[in-house]
Amino acid sequence: MADKDAAWIHLEAVARADGAKAIAGLFEAEPDRLARLTLTNAAGLFLDLSKQPWSAAGQTAALALARAGDIEAHRARLFAGEIVNASEKRPALHMALRAPDGADFKAQGKPISGEVEATRAQMRGFAEGIRAGKVVGATGRRFTAVVHIGIGGSDLGPKLVWEALKPLEPGIELRFAANVDGAEIAAALAGLDPAQTLVIVVSKSFTTEETLVNGNAARAWLAAALGEAGANQHLAAVSANVEGAGKFGVAKDRVFAFWDWVGGRYSLWSAVGLSCAIGLGWDAFAALLAGGAAMDEHFHTAPLEQSAPVLLGLAHLFNRNGLGRPIRAVVPYARRMALLPAFLQQLEMESNGKQVDQTGAPIHRGTASAVFGDAGTTGQHAFFQMLHQGTDVIPVDIVAVAKGDEGPPDHQARLVANAIAQAEALMVGHANPQEPWRNFPGNRPTSFILLPRLTPEALGALIALYEHKVFVEGVLWGIDSFDQWGVELGKTLAKAVFAELEGGTPGQHDASTTALIVKLKG
Ligand code: F6P
Repeated sequence: MADKDAAWIHLEAVARADGAKAIAGLFEAEPDRLARLTLTNAAGLFLDLSKQPWSAAGQTAALALARAGDIEAHRARLFAGEIVNASEKRPALHMALRAPDGADFKAQGKPISGEVEATRAQMRGFAEGIRAGKVVGATGRRFTAVVHIGIGGSDLGPKLVWEALKPLEPGIELRFAANVDGAEIAAALAGLDPAQTLVIVVSKSFTTEETLVNGNAARAWLAAALGEAGANQHLAAVSANVEGAGKFGVAKDRVFAFWDWVGGRYSLWSAVGLSCAIGLGWDAFAALLAGGAAMDEHFHTAPLEQSAPVLLGLAHLFNRNGLGRPIRAVVPYARRMALLPAFLQQLEMESNGKQVDQTGAPIHRGTASAVFGDAGTTGQHAFFQMLHQGTDVIPVDIVAVAKGDEGPPDHQARLVANAIAQAEALMVGHANPQEPWRNFPGNRPTSFILLPRLTPEALGALIALYEHKVFVEGVLWGIDSFDQWGVELGKTLAKAVFAELEGGTPGQHDASTTALIVKLKG
């Protein structure tokens, strides 16, 4: 602990010194810089962290922090299925979900890989049955659409994967409904034929208001066309609360289990991904899992100085804590990955947006950054002005794809040219003292992540890379990255306000809240 504190203080001091240097100048001063800060094959991904503001001394200090924080021991406890989520007394074993058959993961000593494989087989049978037209709806017609209902971790991962990998003309269309806003479920169901639509209700807890309300609306829509019994043949559920899903009216063999050792935002690899397995086919889903498993293997075995999750996390801490930069942009240069920033907002901000450590003691340095972003090149015409010339330095993760598979051939070269050029421009800038509005200060850091192609394997590896990066950061901040108590208060108060809006007894509120309730009651 004392070692870790000392390592933090040292890192922060070295970072302040590095912050006064020009990143571009470090390439000349450090002939090994590019080789030292480039990983050419981290589970198939290429990672360039040489445009980050750390000198060799800065990187050494960051790695010393990783050692003082005993990342290796924490990593071992994570993979061994020990309790890493202290406030909920649970392991976090999303790696077990993507491990190949025959793996031997244990949750607090209890073997779990057998159950994982059994559920995977159930998913596969169902997904392939639907795709082959063997599992059909109440009228005997095949399913041509799946409506996936879930929110947060039960939505963002599957939606990202679907948008990233879906065929241009899908044989089975996937729609998503997360928000309780009636416009969302209305849009998800619009134009679909109930007789050919499967509704999958996805909720780890099966108590989430939005999901239950949307699920009820979808079931009513099915029942209006097919009757109650018919509607049941069009429903499936995915949950760690199998009893709750049963009470909702989903037939037992249509309930796909997952477990309390899977965090919601880490659950894409479980049956939460069922809709993707149906829409993309089992082979693609299995390849996504394999990509995640390859990143697990990399994280589990690579030395810290060659570990992509460790280095990406340390680069973030260098900016966040060493240089006081609380915002980070994520820009995927692939429109199909436009939802990556939204996915990372939950992964990073729900996991590490916390003010106390695992023991409940206050943390005296900044934790998660605010993450925002959009696809490149679109984002270049929106918020890049501020990235280049704003008063705050905002580090950027640029995620690019080497080879494109769609559209006219020159588009891909133009796209990656923009990705490369933006990283260059952000770092080197362009001095123009005569025309200050045309002055680019430069020295703005980027991490550059390159996927060889936008394949399921590469996407799986990318998502797992960020998951492990978040873990590394959480360990060094001392955070429980797997709970999310901060979302509870608002949920509770919303229930009370809803009851009042619906005519219930007025409660005790501040003057502003009372005035809003009175206004909305009309
Ligand atoms: O927003 C809080 C949260 O609990 C997330 O962590 C979770 O991903 C989401 O709600 C949905 O929860 P559930 O899958 O239990 O419906």
